[in-house]
Amino acid sequence: EKGGYDYFMLKEIAEQPKAVADTLLGRIDAAGSLTLDEVRIPVHELREVDKVVIVACGTAFHAGLIAKYAIEHWTRIPCEVELASEFRYRDPILGTRSLVIAISQSGETMDTLMALRHAREQGSKVLAICNTNGSTIPRESDAVLYTHAGPEVAVASTKAFLTQLVACYLVALYLGQVRGTKWGDEIQAVIRDLSQISGEVERVLETMEPVRELARSLADKKTVLFLGRHVGYPVALEGALKLKELAYMHAEGFAAGELKHGPIALIEDDLPVVVVVPSPRGRSVLYDKIVSNIQEIRARGARTIVIAEEGDEAVVPYADHLIRIPATPTLLQPLVATVPLQVFACELATARGNEVDQPRNLAKSVTVE
Ligand code: BG6
Repeated sequence: EKGGYDYFMLKEIAEQPKAVADTLLGRIDAAGSLTLDEVRIPVHELREVDKVVIVACGTAFHAGLIAKYAIEHWTRIPCEVELASEFRYRDPILGTRSLVIAISQSGETMDTLMALRHAREQGSKVLAICNTNGSTIPRESDAVLYTHAGPEVAVASTKAFLTQLVACYLVALYLGQVRGTKWGDEIQAVIRDLSQISGEVERVLETMEPVRELARSLADKKTVLFLGRHVGYPVALEGALKLKELAYMHAEGFAAGELKHGPIALIEDDLPVVVVVPSPRGRSVLYDKIVSNIQEIRARGARTIVIAEEGDEAVVPYADHLIRIPATPTLLQPLVATVPLQVFACELATARGNEVDQPRNLAKSVTVE
C-alpha cells in the first residue's frame, strides 16, 4: 500500500501534483471562471461578508496564514487567522457577516471543532476546508470545500497541506469573483497560473536529490532556522514545524524582517538557515530586503540554504546551498516552495533513524482539546 515507497510520507509527497490537480478539477470552467457551487453559501451573503476569520491547527494553521495574504489582496476583506485552540477563549468579535473558515485535513480535530461551534453560536457562517468526506467538521459547517488529496496516512501533513492552499486560493479568488474587485484581470491570470501549478510541483519533485544530500549532511546539527517574508513567512514556519515533527530538531521559523529585533542573536558559525526568497519580479522591495537579510546572517557565520526562483542570479553569491523553484506569481509560491522543505525534513528524519510516518508523541488526528 506504500506503492513501492519506504514510507507513506514519501508516497504522499510524490502524490502532490495529482492531489493539487484533483483539487482544481471541475472547479474552473472553460471560460476560466471559478464554479464553486458546492460552497452552498448564497452569493448575496458572500457579497456581504465584512470579515473572514480562519481557524485551524498545526499545518492547517500555516495554510490559513498564507490564505490571509490571498484573501486580503484579492478581496480587500479583512482576514484574521487564529490557532483554533486559542480562538474561543479570547471572546472573539464575530457577527452574522463574519465568514469563518475552518481548515482541517481529518475533519476531527477537537480544537478546530470547538472553534467552529463557537463561531456558529455567534451567528457566523462557517465554511470548512477538509480532506475527509463526511467527517465531523464539515458536517457541522454551513458549507464545505473538499480538498481532493486522497487519504493521508503519514502523521506529518504534506499533500493535504498543498491542497489546503489550493482550496484557500479558490475561496479567495471566488470571493473576489463574486464581489468584483479591481484585481479582476489579475484574478483571471492567477486562475490560469493555478491550473498550471501541478506541473510546476512535479518539476520541483524531479530536482530533489541535492536537497536529500544536503539534509543527510546536516544530520548531526542541533538547530535549523527558517526565514521568509510575506507568504514566505508561513512557509518558513511550516518548514520548521516539519523538522520538529520528523527530525526532533530545534527548528524555528521567523519573519526575516524580525531578525534584527532578536533572532539574529542566535546566529553562530555554521548554523544552517533556510531562507525562502520571493520572486525578484513584481514586489521588488520585498526581494531586496530579503537579499540583505541573507547577507546579514551570512556575515555572522550562518550557512545559508537559499530557496530561490529559477533565473534569480542576485542571490547566488550569498547562497552556500541553492535550491531552485519554478517562477510563480508571488501569492502562489508556497505551493512550490514548501515541497523542498518537506523533502528536507523527511530525509533528515531518516538520516537520524527516526520513524518517519509515526513520529514520537504525535497523532494524525487529535480528538481531545
Ligand atoms: C496535528 C497533526 O495534531 O493536527 C498535524 O499531527 C496536523 O499534522 C494538525 O496539522 C491538524 O490536523 P487537521 O486534521 O485538523 O488538519
